[in-house]
Amino acid sequence: MLELLTPPPADPLFELAAEYGADPRPERLNLVLGVYRDPTGATPVMAAVREAEIRLAAHSASKEYRGLSGNPAFNRAMVSSVLGTDDLIGRATAIQTVAGTGALRLLAEFAARTRPGTTVWISDPAYVNHRPILEAAGLEVRTYAYLDAEGRADEAGMLRDLGEARRGDLVLLQGCCHNPTGVDPSAETWDALADLAERHGWVPFIDLAYHGLGDGFEADLHATRALAARVPELLIAVSCSKNFGLYNDRTGCAIVLGPSRHALRHVETALQNIARTLYSMPPEHGAAIVATVLGDDALRAAWRAELEVMRERITSNRADLVARLSALGCGREAEILAQQKGMFSTLPLTGDHMLGLRREFAIYGTTSGRINIAGISGHRIPYLAQGIAAVLGAADAPRTGQLTPS
Ligand SMILES: Cc1ncc(COP(=O)(O)O)c(C=O)c1O
Repeated sequence: MLELLTPPPADPLFELAAEYGADPRPERLNLVLGVYRDPTGATPVMAAVREAEIRLAAHSASKEYRGLSGNPAFNRAMVSSVLGTDDLIGRATAIQTVAGTGALRLLAEFAARTRPGTTVWISDPAYVNHRPILEAAGLEVRTYAYLDAEGRADEAGMLRDLGEARRGDLVLLQGCCHNPTGVDPSAETWDALADLAERHGWVPFIDLAYHGLGDGFEADLHATRALAARVPELLIAVSCSKNFGLYNDRTGCAIVLGPSRHALRHVETALQNIARTLYSMPPEHGAAIVATVLGDDALRAAWRAELEVMRERITSNRADLVARLSALGCGREAEILAQQKGMFSTLPLTGDHMLGLRREFAIYGTTSGRINIAGISGHRIPYLAQGIAAVLGAADAPRTGQLTPS
């Protein structure tokens, strides 16, 4: 068998992260993968998560199998924290998944099996794994415009393209802090999307991976909740990787909303059947942590406060980069960056610029211009700004070799 194996393509993001790991230059800067780093450059375990782990270690008596839907307290807590109101909660069914990726795949499989031949629309550009996940589930993928040539939200293009989405199609929308662009639709555009979905009968499929890291936890969920209130059916893939810092505990949730409880009666079993042939039951540890945190008022408040500190750090990193780019004569780039939010930004740079950053300054982002704003220690921002200004050839930029690695 193995002699038949031809070299498969490596994952470009993990390959780039490995290239960074092998770079001997001490000034190297890793802005590739989407993890939060504190001012010291560490990705810490959140204090509320640590406290929940201590409680779990003290009280958990068994590691017996869970049911196919995972941890029921986790599922209940996720539905109520994401949806917020009894009206929406009463229309939802959820099962625990293997992180956000697992939720996306499970819901895509659910759509493909329920309605074979389903088309799903994704943004252009999209999160790098959206198309592979959706195609692997057998869905047909089409794209809608998202950014204009200037790197700003192309809301007219988005509504024009989604005007072609048909009844029963899925439209994948990121609920907040769009990866990779950092650009979210305005409130008016979300309203217009709800009008379109209602009129044309397509089903919004929301990917929530960064709520709490944009405008605030409740504010980041506003668009999802408003849309859910307007449409009869909605799918939501939720990740706990970023806002609980549970990256390697692989914790997430697939939520399906229907017009009534009766309409949902077969949903949980259908989702369970898909999970059964993939991994059977999801891992317990992260879900137990989240259920413990969300189930205790004081711990939940402590977690929200920590999340807010993370959010403020990301916001201030971006503001600092914007100010420094302006000061170095990169006003256009600064203005575009200032409109973005969340963990990622897409720099309005070409692939050659990004390669130049990597080659000359050991600054690693993707060739599409994506950088992880949450991955920079504050004292490295001047270096990043100088590197960007240098590859752009900005008049006020220091020349290569004159940068302060800080
Ligand atoms: C938009 C988006 N959706 C989903 C995911 C998947 O996250 P998880 O690590 O929970 O699988 C990511 C991860 O980066 C993401 O950026």
